[in-house]
Amino acid sequence: MSKWTAKDVLRADQFTKEEIATILELAGEYERALSDGRTLDVMKGLVLSTLFFEPSTRTRLSFETAMLRLGGGVVSVSEAKSTSASKGESLHDTIRTVEGYADVIVLRHPQIGAADEAARATDKPVLNAGDGAGQHPTQSLLDLYTITKETGRIDTLTVALAGDLKNGRTVHSLALLLANYEVQFVFIAPPALRMPDAICNELDQRGVRIQQTDDLATGIEQADVLYMTRIQRERFDDPSAYDRLKDSYVLTRDLVESAKDGIVVMHPLPRVNEIATDVDDYGKAAYFRQAANGVPVRMALLALVSGRA
Ligand code: NCD
Repeated sequence: MSKWTAKDVLRADQFTKEEIATILELAGEYERALSDGRTLDVMKGLVLSTLFFEPSTRTRLSFETAMLRLGGGVVSVSEAKSTSASKGESLHDTIRTVEGYADVIVLRHPQIGAADEAARATDKPVLNAGDGAGQHPTQSLLDLYTITKETGRIDTLTVALAGDLKNGRTVHSLALLLANYEVQFVFIAPPALRMPDAICNELDQRGVRIQQTDDLATGIEQADVLYMTRIQRERFDDPSAYDRLKDSYVLTRDLVESAKDGIVVMHPLPRVNEIATDVDDYGKAAYFRQAANGVPVRMALLALVSGRA
């Protein structure tokens, strides 16, 4: 595992295929250790700081669980208003302070590029846990891990991404990460919430086939994996635009039954109303398993960036 050289995890397109394989392999080892009830001390003596300036349930708790499962310690900020940022402290100064306490820093922040700024401010590893409507690379790695577990492969899959593709950072990172493989995409979004041109152009350049539609039923016909997302209310300046778009898609059980046999249904969560709750009993509804996969994948990332793997 000594081939790892990245100080930080900032974007999904920073990884080589070999690095992705290293992460997924190590995550698999940690998952087996956890299910065998083995105690690990890979991060013993190290402290993780989770700085969350935007709400989170899964990302923060799974990072903290990952650190604790590896025998490390955690100091956490879960609300911006509880920090000196609310007194006007710059992100740079906050990071310079936290680097004096912690060995690894996980940051979620409303500003695109905040994690890059944090990484420049410190020599300690910084992991981007979501920078506004930018990227969410650690989520995309656990999404990829989930896809391989649920389908048994990555190459040759047709992956449909549906919902707020403009503002959803998870789909930005997932599309870029999957571009390393032989996948095809169907992007399902209302015209106002389409995947940004910068990402579509990058995929084009890499020879990835993309189809676009605004119709959920049509979009999922050929899909092996459907990745639903929430309309990102907090990114709308105009509340009436959100109200117009918030019910764009609702995945019902009937729609799932009409799709390709065995279609895997994913969602980064939180869900608002875009997946009906009776889809939860469908065998290939993977979203809660997907959330659980955050722990072994983040264990792998913490160990690798700390030079402990
Ligand atoms: C996502 C996020 O924060 O971008 N949640 C997560 O990390 N699992 C998705 C979302 O908030 O819609």
